[in-house]
Amino acid sequence: MKGIILAGGKGTRLYPLTLVNNKHLLPVYQKPMIYYPLSVLMLADIRDILIITTPQDLERFQTLLGDGSAYGIRLQYAVQEKPNGIAEAFLIGESFIAGDQVALILGDNIFYGPGFTPLLRRVKRQLKGATVFGHRVKDPRRFGVVEFDDQKRVLSIEEKPVEPKSDFAITGLYFYDHNVVDLARQLKKSERGELEITDLNALYLQQNRLNVELLGRGYVWMDVGTHEALNEASEFIRHIEMRQGFKVGCLEEISYYMKTMSKKDLLRHAGRFKNEYGSYLLDIAKRQHVQQYWEEHESRREWIENAK
Ligand code: G1P
Repeated sequence: MKGIILAGGKGTRLYPLTLVNNKHLLPVYQKPMIYYPLSVLMLADIRDILIITTPQDLERFQTLLGDGSAYGIRLQYAVQEKPNGIAEAFLIGESFIAGDQVALILGDNIFYGPGFTPLLRRVKRQLKGATVFGHRVKDPRRFGVVEFDDQKRVLSIEEKPVEPKSDFAITGLYFYDHNVVDLARQLKKSERGELEITDLNALYLQQNRLNVELLGRGYVWMDVGTHEALNEASEFIRHIEMRQGFKVGCLEEISYYMKTMSKKDLLRHAGRFKNEYGSYLLDIAKRQHVQQYWEEHESRREWIENAK
């Protein structure tokens, strides 16, 4: 399965912060925002990832993440010339996808919750058609909204409805089978001039091949599009990290635990940062029994079980 991160757009809601900076490179606590969605794809054990961004920002992403080999993944880059909508990612990424299945994540989406990694791996393993994730929100009118029956069968899906049929927003993480490019080609631009991801999902729904996974109330999902949201996300990550001593979205840590980074390379990464981030990596490298370290933690234990 391939992965795509969409990190384009103008980020107008974040002006003046994003007048010269790409939104997805802004800090969410200690890390660039894109680390969080990238870590989601890595946890799903997706190793071929395409980052789509604007022509002017491409180089900055390449400077930050390179070809991905430092994190045990393979990164490619592509350009979205204009903000023509999320579903355009599949047309831009057609040759990269090359008939494979693909997971798309929006570059400003942050996920946190118990058992997320095993959930991702199950969705990936059992994928038939398309799978989206629903999460209850207070104001569903700001999002794509999914309505489903008690068997979790999708009944309807609507983009930013004035009268939402449920409280469940569709998050910015989507899994699709190999038909996705053909279906994306059938889309027409919406009134706001975009190829809508919701229209693509509606095509899967028409074929009865759209599934929804609900992220329960123990999950946190954020899309970081406004100043308030940016601040909230930073605060949230800071809180978790200070309280637990575990980092969220730490690419080096994930890669090391997934055994795509050696201890030597982890130490090299640790040496790059003369700060708390570096000490954290050093601390991980020093622990003798990584497996045992994992097993101390519930969600990680689940992860191991699932990876077997
Ligand atoms: C997009 C999608 C919407 C989804 C949201 C999640 O909205 O169109 O369906 O719920 O991402 O972040 P946008 O951020 O483009 O307004």
